[in-house]
Amino acid sequence: MYDYFEIQSKVGITKHMGGLKSTKELLELCGVNNSHFVLVAGSGNGVSAVYMHRWTGCKVLGIDISEEMVKSALEKAEEGVEFIVGNVEDIQFTDNTFDTVISESVTAFTNKNKSLSEYYRVLKKGGYLGLNEVTWLKEPSSEIIDFAQRVMGLEGENKDHWISLLEQAGFKEINSKLYTLNQRKQVLGDLELQKTGFFKIWVRFIYYYLKDTEYRKSVHYFAREGLRIPRDFTRYFGYGLYVCKK
Ligand SMILES: C[S@@+](CC[C@H](N)C(=O)[O-])C[C@H]1O[C@@H](n2cnc3c(N)ncnc32)[C@H](O)[C@@H]1O
Repeated sequence: MYDYFEIQSKVGITKHMGGLKSTKELLELCGVNNSHFVLVAGSGNGVSAVYMHRWTGCKVLGIDISEEMVKSALEKAEEGVEFIVGNVEDIQFTDNTFDTVISESVTAFTNKNKSLSEYYRVLKKGGYLGLNEVTWLKEPSSEIIDFAQRVMGLEGENKDHWISLLEQAGFKEINSKLYTLNQRKQVLGDLELQKTGFFKIWVRFIYYYLKDTEYRKSVHYFAREGLRIPRDFTRYFGYGLYVCKK
């Protein structure tokens, strides 16, 4: 059985809450400009990393733990944007390398103490971290926590806990903005994130679905479980943009 990310990485799909609109907002809040060297931690299929470069002129390096994701991202690489395999819990760069670190819908899937300490370590002094992370808007029931863990593979946090994790990692001047999830806008945002390579995504999906029994079974499992989403899930499930300084 493939997990949630393996299904997506085989075909090159990734997403984050709020789509490219929230990417733009994070860049603005972090003050990214064309002199910056930006680490995109958990760059997925690379689409938002490419936009970060195009919008601001900054130099971008994306790392992702999945070789397949990096392969898909490399198809979109252009001058000023690179992608390599790497683990955000153990980043292969020396201290004080990057002007900015941006991570969108990644940290919640990792050992948060490790990844946040690594973002801190590789940032230059005075540099900003911009996070877009799943955040519980209200205390979730055990049914909702179980759904998020089992189907999405993530451990959500509430805003105060994200802030205390960032403080523990050493960050200061922590600002946060919370958003509820608008399902219609989210679907449109997800589609926008896949628009580069949309045709390839479908070809790959059909290929794996027909050729790989394990893939087909996993898709059926997640589709079935996804339909069992607790009724008021989106009243609890939102996201936060967190910006803080080293
Ligand atoms: C929900 S996707 C978001 C991808 C991308 N940030 C985007 O917005 O499209 C999460 C990504 O995090 C990557 N990931 C998960 N754990 C990781 C880790 N420990 N180190 C690096 N990447 C990781 C996954 O492979 C996946 O590509």
